[in-house]
Amino acid sequence: MMTTYYDEDQETAVLTGNCCDAYRSKTVLVTGGAGAIGSNLTRALAGHGARVIVLDNLSSAERWNVPSLPNVLFVEGDVLDEVKLKRVFFERPSIIYHLAAFFANQNSVDHPEKDLMVNGIGTLRLLEYAVFTGVERFVYASSGCSIYGSAAPLPLREEFMSMHLSTPYQITKMLGELYCNFFHHHYGVPVVKPRFFNSYGPGEIPGQYRNVIPNFIYWAMKGMPLPITGDGQATRDFTYVADLVDGLLRAGVMESAIGREFNLGSAAETRVIELAETINRLTGNQAGVCFTARRKWDTKSRLRACIDRAAEVIGYRPATPFDVGLRNTVQWFRDNWDQIEAAARFGPGASAALPLMSAVAK
Ligand SMILES: NC(=O)c1ccc[n+]([C@@H]2O[C@H](COP(=O)([O-])OP(=O)(O)OC[C@H]3O[C@@H](n4cnc5c(N)ncnc54)[C@H](O)[C@@H]3O)[C@@H](O)[C@H]2O)c1
Repeated sequence: MMTTYYDEDQETAVLTGNCCDAYRSKTVLVTGGAGAIGSNLTRALAGHGARVIVLDNLSSAERWNVPSLPNVLFVEGDVLDEVKLKRVFFERPSIIYHLAAFFANQNSVDHPEKDLMVNGIGTLRLLEYAVFTGVERFVYASSGCSIYGSAAPLPLREEFMSMHLSTPYQITKMLGELYCNFFHHHYGVPVVKPRFFNSYGPGEIPGQYRNVIPNFIYWAMKGMPLPITGDGQATRDFTYVADLVDGLLRAGVMESAIGREFNLGSAAETRVIELAETINRLTGNQAGVCFTARRKWDTKSRLRACIDRAAEVIGYRPATPFDVGLRNTVQWFRDNWDQIEAAARFGPGASAALPLMSAVAK
């Protein structure tokens, strides 16, 4: 039985009444709606009265992670499959959240063509359908780590962009933004391009290509040392998924968001070593940490988003303290441990080869 940690009261408190009401009786398509962020977004949209169509091929997600609600329709399928696209657009969605993606950096280094197909062609297909069906809004899940490169000054501001990206994923996520801009200017598609920063929270299943927080919690709960790539001094801007979902709900209906890109981060930096120590403390793990070589593509020593533009354009205000978000996430692991352990996607023998694991920190 899944436990819901999505704090609807908190979200409703910050979301303007207009935004909440705006979803009532809308049909909303969420590609990637079974995933870490998409499943939380789907639950929130359904809670605000939307009819939600989820299109997901379950390549990095589990069916049980999709909220089982009367106003959520799950369609298992690929964003590259015309038949499935026709099926979901037959439902006439007026708002599209395009979250399906080949995730993430190390996966794209290992499988660059697959990354280009899903993140490049997949996004192009969705935008074409958005033109043909005349949608009211197309929200694209962009990525802070994919736009700013490693030379941008902190805090990361929307004006800066880099042509020197370190992985195929970063290139194709930027490509998605560029396609959004083309479809906006040429066809008038009302696109919005929120840039996410290291999302974490209930709903993210650990695995070889997943983010650092679910993987640390997973290994900690197994009593293993937490594998840190590099020296642990690197920082990330960890954003609690409910705060990110709040920003996405605003991005989906506020007029001021159309055509804009803005950071949805927490505006705070946390060192990876501090994260590991906190997770070991929260889970009672005595095994400590171990260090392995920094990955060649991992060239960003610090990440911290400037969120002034998101505050100005959509009134975004992340509200969850990091320790509260981490506790909620650990609790979600405890409540769903059997399903999570069965679903965790690590290669065979991963725990024996723990210090050699290639993808603990996105
Ligand atoms: N999680 C982060 O920290 C982060 C940061 C920046 C950007 N993003 C972006 O946000 C979006 C959601 O990220 P997430 O963390 O929820 O990732 P996720 O992997 O949990 O979710 C992506 C979902 O897309 C599905 N999917 C993958 N390929 C597909 C395909 N070809 N057809 C249909 N479905 C497919 C997967 O099964 C998964 O459920 C992605 O676009 C990602 O690039 C995430």
